[in-house]
Amino acid sequence: MAASLTSVFAAICAFCLLSLASAVDFNYPAVFNFGDSNSDTGDLVAAGIGEPLLPPNGQTYFSRPAGRFCDGRLIIDFLMDAVDMPPLNAYLDSIGAPIFHKGCNFAAAGSTILPATANSISPFSFGVQVAQFFKFKDRVLQLLAKGKKFKKYIPQADYFSRGLYMFDIGQNDLAGAFYYKTEDQVIASIPTILLEFENGLKKLYEQGARSFWIHNTGPLGCLAQNIAFFAKDPSKLDEIGCVSSHNQAAKLFNLQLHALCTKLRGVFADATITYIDVFSIKFNLIANYSRYGFENKITACCGYGGPPLNYDSRISCGQTKVLDGVLVTAKACDDATEYVNWDGIHYTEAANHHVSSQILTGKFADPPFTDKMPFAPTLKF
Ligand SMILES: *[C@@H]1O[C@H](CO)[C@@H](O)[C@H](O)[C@H]1NC(C)=O
Repeated sequence: MAASLTSVFAAICAFCLLSLASAVDFNYPAVFNFGDSNSDTGDLVAAGIGEPLLPPNGQTYFSRPAGRFCDGRLIIDFLMDAVDMPPLNAYLDSIGAPIFHKGCNFAAAGSTILPATANSISPFSFGVQVAQFFKFKDRVLQLLAKGKKFKKYIPQADYFSRGLYMFDIGQNDLAGAFYYKTEDQVIASIPTILLEFENGLKKLYEQGARSFWIHNTGPLGCLAQNIAFFAKDPSKLDEIGCVSSHNQAAKLFNLQLHALCTKLRGVFADATITYIDVFSIKFNLIANYSRYGFENKITACCGYGGPPLNYDSRISCGQTKVLDGVLVTAKACDDATEYVNWDGIHYTEAANHHVSSQILTGKFADPPFTDKMPFAPTLKF
């Protein structure tokens, strides 16, 4: 009797969970992505901005620098692949045979949510990316009106309302602000940053976007770049070895971003908004790295200076230059799959693969989507 009651309960509970998780169905004809280097598939490099991306970037998967600040694929590459979609073409990558049939990627490395300033790495802040999307859409609709000739290169008109709009942006707003603001000032600026984000989302909603997929920001205090600059005094580090102030700001940003998602569900009629807790996945990976098969949690694979950080802000991955009178090169480690971090700022392909497979469990999503997986994630690695 007790056993059968338990199983009835189990069945009821499973049913509750199923009906809670009804938002995501993974059946999108196109994806439009907005963000920074976490999801830039070649935009900033195509724009000809900044220093060229050198080998060994791209070495693990593409055998050459492929516009990504990584040894291989990014989270967005794995997610697209898992739903059997081609990699997203960067908006500004116009040479060759760009295929925008299943979407377009507006993300550019270094981008912020707040408008860029003269000192910004990327001029393509969130508002600009949204404006670029409108240009893209106008142009697609014009071309569609000309007949079938371009059909296989560009989205169909209804893909704009049926497509998935993905976002991974905010890290540079916080990380950049720490160079000239106190922790309290950075935290106080979060509502302004998120207001700008909300404005962009509203514009997209007003022109027909209905499915939103929003990654929160990662534990930026665990990046060697921030540890090198902000933790010269070890008391600034937490027990894992990350800069406490940066992770605190990221957590508060995420709390407010999560609240914004909840609020917008009440404002955007007929929309689904999926919030993905990337912070928890990445922080857990760094804290428990050996359990997930990694040998190094914070040390950069590609860099200069050796452990513990192997990061020197004067030289980036792949560069050769004279430092302190000696010609040096920032080289890659022997086996990037042993490292969580690629270059002191960005994650390795192996780490991105781990994060993607965790995202695809649905457990880090609000609302969770565990029942909506039409596939066992087939991450090819
Ligand atoms: C590390 O793993 C342990 C055991 O599963 C877990 O309790 C802990 O929360 C993890 N650490 C982080 C930061 O997620």
